[in-house]
Amino acid sequence: MTSKALDRIQVHQGDITKLDVDAIVNAANTSLLGGGGVDGAIHRAAGPQLLEECKTLGGCPTGEARITKGYKLPARHVIHTVGPVYKGRPADADLLASCYKNSFKLAGDYGLSSIAFPAISCGVYGYPIEDACKIAVDTTLRVLEQTDTIQKVIFALFSEADVQTYRTYIDSLG
Ligand code: AR6
Repeated sequence: MTSKALDRIQVHQGDITKLDVDAIVNAANTSLLGGGGVDGAIHRAAGPQLLEECKTLGGCPTGEARITKGYKLPARHVIHTVGPVYKGRPADADLLASCYKNSFKLAGDYGLSSIAFPAISCGVYGYPIEDACKIAVDTTLRVLEQTDTIQKVIFALFSEADVQTYRTYIDSLG
């Protein structure tokens, strides 16, 4: 069972805004009104209509997710989720796992089959990549074991070091 779920996971080094998938996930903040990092890159690539739609959403609490169209992105949708600011509390792990769960829930509600995630909270929010990687992969596998709707999950990572962290962890599960 796990190997079938593992087969649907890919690790990709590069810019998430270039990916042609049903949805890319944005590591946003609670305002949903844009920011730096991957959030800034997604808004720049999608164009100003994305911000206009985000303004209608009224923000998003940490751990939850909201969906918009992808506008000028190759991706059809953007799923905006808000990761925790890392403080080393047990609640951080629960909130980060909720980001993945709630993103998958929206993907399922919209019948999406391919989704790409950045390393949520691992930039300015300071989450250690090794811990965040385990939460991302473990949560994803649990979801994939329970649904056939999602056929492809891409972890899109900027740095070679982050790619190695994900590959090493995923290989240890195979
Ligand atoms: N493609 C893939 N990964 C990227 C890209 C990209 N184009 N750009 C950055 N990353 P961060 P956070 C990586 O800081 O920690 C924003 O201002 C980056 O190297 O974007 O959740 C929001 O508005 C890192 O590994 O998100 C919030 O205020 C990962 O994406 C706040 O930052 C996440 O880094 C959210 O902080």
